Amino acid sequence: MTTSFAFALGLTATDSRGQPLDCYFPLPTINPDSALDELIDARFGLGVTQVDAEAAAAFATALPTGALKSVCEELAGADRPLTAVRLDSDADIGSTAEAYLKLHLLSHRLALPNSLNLNGIFAHLPNVAWTTSGPVAVAELPDAVRRARLKGAHLEVMAVDKFPKMTNYVVPSGVRIADASRIRLGAYLGEGTTVMHEGFVNFNAGALGPNMVEGRISQGVTVGAHSDLGGSSSTMGTLSGGGEIVISIGENCLIGANAGTGIPLGDRCTIEAGLYITAGTRVSLLDELGTEVKVVKARELAGGSDMLFIRNSANGRIECRSNRRAIALNEQLHAHN
Ligand SMILES: CC(C)(COP(=O)(O)OP(=O)(O)OC[C@H]1O[C@@H](n2cnc3c(N)ncnc32)[C@H](O)[C@@H]1OP(=O)(O)O)[C@@H](O)C(=O)NCCC(=O)NCCS
Repeated sequence: MTTSFAFALGLTATDSRGQPLDCYFPLPTINPDSALDELIDARFGLGVTQVDAEAAAAFATALPTGALKSVCEELAGADRPLTAVRLDSDADIGSTAEAYLKLHLLSHRLALPNSLNLNGIFAHLPNVAWTTSGPVAVAELPDAVRRARLKGAHLEVMAVDKFPKMTNYVVPSGVRIADASRIRLGAYLGEGTTVMHEGFVNFNAGALGPNMVEGRISQGVTVGAHSDLGGSSSTMGTLSGGGEIVISIGENCLIGANAGTGIPLGDRCTIEAGLYITAGTRVSLLDELGTEVKVVKARELAGGSDMLFIRNSANGRIECRSNRRAIALNEQLHAHN
């Protein structure tokens, strides 16, 4: 028997040529237990396969009572072809369905950001128009818009992108999201996380929860429990230009409004509103009396805890002091239910 690394059964939307546009997997599984894996192994080959209603129904019948059985029963009753993805290892992504499975695993909190092999994801995610009628191939959009108008309807195009918004696939428990268009599928939002309108969370990135996110979490960045990203703050990504260090922010940190970081931070760090620390920024280390001890590049402080960064408004110097204050997140802001 081949052991499964991940498995999902779901629906694929296709363009007029049968090319996949997206996949929806209601209940993906990672590292299934041996009983479930035996059932999967008996019915599904490795890779991406088309599944007919009969095969899906047989799988649902074999499953023990539970959420997966109910979902598979529903899928078996769909009047659309079903897609199964079964991976035996976390290999490079080789198809659109595999890309979607991995994005689902992240947003379902079954895998942490940076824990999955996402090599090949851009090559296998088509650029798609995301509309009120679902995904539409970009080349077919003019026809779709015209046909809708001819019927007196209006096709709203929310985005033209490789990644759809997460909430159309999964809303993890215990989160509050002010503007769903700001969270891409593949984002990881931990229990108790609030993302306000200026907040943005890319795929393979996230807030481990509970968090208040009013700034941008770039691809690969993770934010630890009880840390607060202030309005329009920025965490530097690694996808384009410059930064090569993958940024993480520890617990109980505050990145002030319009501030940003290009270095990872440990726990209980604060960056003053408006101050952007990049890896090469020269920072004066101050002792308890406010005397400069030495000047270092910020990258030398990467991962440190209990740091307070300010730009001294009297002399323009960027200073790092001991952070005496732990940031206590406003309980009311985090009462998300
Ligand atoms: C950096 C920050 C945390 C400091 O706040 P604080 O700890 O309350 O400090 P205070 O403003 O009381 O200042 C303490 C002292 O440092 C001085 N100080 C503070 N910021 C300074 C700066 N940039 N340059 C020079 N001195 C500064 C103050 O003048 C004060 O001096 P004093 O003791 O002689 O009166 C705060 O300015 C900040 O930027 N907070 C971010 C808030 C935020 O953006 N939240 C998210 C909202 S969406």
